[in-house]
Amino acid sequence: MLVNLNEVLKKAQAEHYGVGLFNTVDSEMLQAAIEAAEELSSPIIIGTAEVLLPYGELKLIAPSIIAMAKQAKVPVVVHYDHGLTFQRCLEALHLGFSSIMYDASAKTYEQNVSETAELVRIAHGFGATVEGEIGHVGEAVNGDNATDKMYTTVEAAKDFAARTGVDALAVAIGTAHGVYKIKPKLNIQRLKEIRSAVNVPLVLHGGSGLSDDDFKNTIAAGIAKINVFTDLCLAGEKAMKEGIAAEENYLQIRNSKKDAIKEAIKVKMRLFDSQGKA
Ligand code: 13P
Repeated sequence: MLVNLNEVLKKAQAEHYGVGLFNTVDSEMLQAAIEAAEELSSPIIIGTAEVLLPYGELKLIAPSIIAMAKQAKVPVVVHYDHGLTFQRCLEALHLGFSSIMYDASAKTYEQNVSETAELVRIAHGFGATVEGEIGHVGEAVNGDNATDKMYTTVEAAKDFAARTGVDALAVAIGTAHGVYKIKPKLNIQRLKEIRSAVNVPLVLHGGSGLSDDDFKNTIAAGIAKINVFTDLCLAGEKAMKEGIAAEENYLQIRNSKKDAIKEAIKVKMRLFDSQGKA
């Protein structure tokens, strides 16, 4: 069934488990995500991100994601991740996404507050939820150079949540998007302080390449949503290479890739402890 973030994250926050956001750019990734969630009876958040649109245009993939979400046996949030422009966020809402992230974290703090608040008003009119971000979650490829200065502060989290009315808040505590070159060091203490200062469910970006303990510790400290993409690409790439080496045909490779991505998603769902929570 198609639901919004409130319908999965409030329960996750109260019961101390995490719900994964798995971005998808094609039918293999979408099918893998739905099958994994149904097989483990787990809630799931499926989406795409503005930077991924060159690989799967919104109008092309939105109808299939939404149709699969509606007919799924488990709760599925269809989420537009890292929306960078109002135009694309509005397009996602009109296409039927039940949730959007507006990422103005690279803009000034006041711009981030006012633009996110405006999108919250609009999205709530659609019955959709909104995730915002403060602090800055960088790209691992740029050198894993997260510094304390980029981390979300407790004061900003309180102020941003109160002034925007966001339904979920992405925090920067030391993770980065992509493949880590050096092991990330997460600021769990800061996360705990933010958790006790705000009620809004907290989101961890850059969920690929983290250790089992990182997930255990961040979920115990208050993370309710974890975003994963790179690890799905790596699992799919490996399956395709093995399929080519084994001289599988196009259709066999397609399904091997789908199955490998499904397994990668199931590994994360078990780590996040969301299985059986649908
Ligand atoms: P990874 O690609 O590092 O898993 O990050 C995904 C993400 O945070 C999407 O918003």
